[in-house]
Amino acid sequence: MPVITFANTKGGAGKTTAVLLLSTELARLGYRVTILDSDPQRWITRWYETSDAPDNLKVIPYINASNIQTHLRDNKPDTDYFIVDLPGASSPLMAVAIGLSDHILVPIQGCAMDAKGGAQVLELLRYLEDKGGIRIDHSVVLSRVNSMVTTRALSAVKALLAERRVRVLDTPIIERSAYRDIFDYGGSLHGMDPERVSNLDKAKENAEMFAQEVLRLVPMRKAANAGQTAGSAVRSAA
Ligand SMILES: Nc1ncnc2c1ncn2[C@@H]1O[C@H](COP(=O)(O)OP(=O)(O)OP(=O)(O)O)[C@@H](O)[C@H]1O
Ligand SMILES: [Mg+2]
Repeated sequence: MPVITFANTKGGAGKTTAVLLLSTELARLGYRVTILDSDPQRWITRWYETSDAPDNLKVIPYINASNIQTHLRDNKPDTDYFIVDLPGASSPLMAVAIGLSDHILVPIQGCAMDAKGGAQVLELLRYLEDKGGIRIDHSVVLSRVNSMVTTRALSAVKALLAERRVRVLDTPIIERSAYRDIFDYGGSLHGMDPERVSNLDKAKENAEMFAQEVLRLVPMRKAANAGQTAGSAVRSAA
């Protein structure tokens, strides 16, 4: 069961939103998803408490550096994907969570390439690889991208990251009101009323493509290859 962590030490990069989109989409596809919520705002936990969430999705709040490993171990038997929502600040938890993960997703707003928070995470990952020989697979996901943004502008951003040898997901997360409304309405995009939420179809399509791309990058069997990833190595040692 792969552990996917969303990290960016900059607040408001779109981590929590991306966690909810990915998790509800994976649950809709039938995967058993456990969200580890360490965001002090507890947005996902609050969403969960007020939502009619599917049976195959659960949320564990108050995750910190001391308890994350225990929660991973305890929930392993009934989880296909763990999704970790980190706070928007550098914390001891970030290093621990990264070490336990199979894939790190770094949301970076498409218009703010120099977003320091994303760079901090990428630097930490590079440091682990260069100094410790530990490679944790990771990708940037462009977040809150304006739907009117030109393909050319996005390509330029992708090229810049490629120059730095950073993988960028083909699917950016578009700025959509549905992605804000989901926290108010509860449930998933698929339970929303298209009469009340603008561009709901496009929002659904974007979330589906994002989840499909993540599934291709982090298939379930990958974590089953013991020792293949830092995450599985740490977990089997636990
Ligand atoms: N794709 C999107 N479309 C519309 N609104 C978005 C999108 N992504 C994020 N937002 C909005 O931007 C704000 C910040 O997003 P979010 O809470 O997901 O970021 P975060 O990285 O988790 O922040 P923090 O570091 O504070 O935890 C929220 O109000 C959220 O509703
Ligand atoms: Mg958050």
